[in-house]
This record gives sequence, structure tokens and C-alpha cells, in this order.
Amino acid sequence: MNPVHADYFAGGAGEERTLRGNLAAFDRLRIVPRVLRATGDRDLRTTLFGTELATPILVAPTAFHLLAHPGGEAATALGAAAAGTVMVVSMAANQPVEVIAGAGGPLWFQLYPQPDLGFTAAVVERAEAAGCRALVVTVDSPVHGHRERDVRNGFTDLPTGLTCENMRDDTGRVRDVVMDTTLGWDVVARLRAMTGLPILLKGVLHPADARLAVDHGVDGLIVSNHGGRQLDGAIATIDALPAVAEAVGGRIPVLIDGGIRRATDVLIALALGADAVLLGRPILHALATGGPEAVRDHLRKLTADLDHVMALAGAGHPTDLTPDLVAVAG
Ligand code: FNR
Ligand code: LAC
Repeated sequence: MNPVHADYFAGGAGEERTLRGNLAAFDRLRIVPRVLRATGDRDLRTTLFGTELATPILVAPTAFHLLAHPGGEAATALGAAAAGTVMVVSMAANQPVEVIAGAGGPLWFQLYPQPDLGFTAAVVERAEAAGCRALVVTVDSPVHGHRERDVRNGFTDLPTGLTCENMRDDTGRVRDVVMDTTLGWDVVARLRAMTGLPILLKGVLHPADARLAVDHGVDGLIVSNHGGRQLDGAIATIDALPAVAEAVGGRIPVLIDGGIRRATDVLIALALGADAVLLGRPILHALATGGPEAVRDHLRKLTADLDHVMALAGAGHPTDLTPDLVAVAG
């Protein structure tokens, strides 16, 4: 890959404390296994918003897959579909959602609500018509993060010929993705009026926001700090999860992303209250190095590893994973 683009994928905001912190937080946690639980064959199937998945490991929305592989987002979607899981399509995808949907697997669509409500509604309608089964509204980006690697590298524009195809309006013009500082909780009702799809908020870290989300009728939450790319210094997601899960109290699904690399990270996240997890950079690495097959293999291998560590921890099903199975390392 072009090293400038590799830096865009790998990097975070500011000093990258939060980027590193997401990983370091998992390093501090240990598993307290149970024994003689007679788990037999484990069952990792997970149902979210009426769709049964083969695994609780999903693909997080990430931008610009044509920088990683000539197959772009459609290649990622093929890999996710073959692994039996959801891909969340980024609003900043290089390919049209209709093309990505051609892979046949379950998709959700990630949205940055745009100040132009009519355009926002058109994008939502387009995603829904293409078959996306949920709307993931990213709420951690009222402004762009300061990514110092991108500044140093002068990475401001996509190479000629690449665009954000889902930002094309009815005049044929590709609009810029606008980050909107005026967004408030009323956006939930506005989106609700546009679509019957389940609405998830991505980027919630504070338990008070989790409570507000439930009060506003949101259908699911993703505990996320955008992989350390927005507010540098934000809490590690695995450290934020327990309070969010407690505030939600099982009323809606809670998902998490950020620094999930190994099956034991997935196990810990499920134990601390997540219903499922998402992977960002590991999927981009797989896509860049081996296309759809590598995306599929990475998801399958991590799922097989999760099955293995669940057996060792005495859990037959993700619902057997409870907070008492996690301890802080001494
Ligand atoms: C992202 N992320 C992201 N999130 C989002 O809501 N819309 C987007 O377009 C993007 N784009 C994007 C590009 C790249 C290159 C990265 C690395 C990340 C954030 C992503 O969904 C997720 O929150 C993090 O990537 C999760 O952390 P890990 O798994 O990368 O550590
Ligand atoms: C990013 C934006 C596209 O993280 O969400 O690069």
C-alpha cells in the first residue's frame, strides 16, 4: 500500500493515546475461568435485530476500501458474507451501496447525518432500498479529529478517480461529508421519521448518554471512540463498557469496537456486557493483504479462536459470559 494511505488507516488523533489505550486496556484484563461446566459444543450464533449471524464478531464501518484493495468495499462484503456476519458500510465508502450489496451478505449502513435533511433522507432511503438492515449513526464526530499523521503526510484528498459514491446527489455531484456541530438528541426523531430501520448510535462512552439513548427510543448502541481517531484522550472502550451496559440494563443491544484483536478480547467484551463486537483495522489489514478471502479467513479464524477460548473458560454460549469472569491484572 501507499504509505500515506497505510498511515491514514493505522493512525489516530493527537498523540494517539486513545489509539494505544484501547489495546493497553485489554492488556490489563484477565479471565477467571469456570470449570466443570459441561459446555459440550459451543454455540456462537448471535441474533441482532432479527438477523441470525454465525458469530458475534462484525465488521466496523471504515472509509475508502479502494485504497486497500482493487475490489473495494464489495470485496470486504464478500468476505463478511462468507463468514456469516454483518458488514457496516461506511457513508464514506468508495463504492455505491448497491454494488456492495451485490455480495449478498447482511449489511448495515453508517450515517453521518447531514445538515441538508433532504439529502440525508435520500441517502437513508437509498441504503434501505439496497437492503441495509440497520442504520448506524456516528455521534462522536461533531468535527473532524486531528490526525497528525495525515497532516504530516499532506493526505487531504483521495487519488483521482476515487470518491465517496454514496454522497452523490440527484444532480450527479458528489458532496463532501459534513461534520455537524448542531446535532442534538432531536436527530433521533428526525431519522425515525425517515426510516423504519433499527437505529444504533455509534460512539457512545458516557453512561448518561446511554440512558438518554434508551429514553429517545434508540434500538442499539456501539461503545466506540472511533478507534482513537476523534478525541485523543478519550477513555478506552473496554473501560467504558461496564457502566454503559449497566445503564442500558439489557433493554437494547450494546456493541463495542476499538482494539479488539484476539479472541480473548472478544470474550472479555462479551463478559463485560457487550452483545457483539466490531473490528476496524484488522479487517482493513486483511483486505489489503489478501482481499475477500483474507477477510473471510480472518473472521472465521477469530470466531474459531473464540469458540476455543470459551471452552477453556467454561462458557457454552456468549450468554454464559458474565462480568465475574473478568479480573484486573495485578
Ligand atoms: C474508521 N472508523 C469509522 N467510523 C465511522 O463511523 N465511519 C467511518 O467512515 C469510519 N472510517 C474509518 C476509517 C478508518 C481507516 C478507521 C481505522 C476507522 C472507525 C471504525 O468504525 C471503528 O470505530 C474503529 O476502527 C474500531 O477500532 P479498531 O478495531 O480499528 O481498533
Ligand atoms: C475516519 C472517518 C472517515 O475515521 O470516519 O477516517
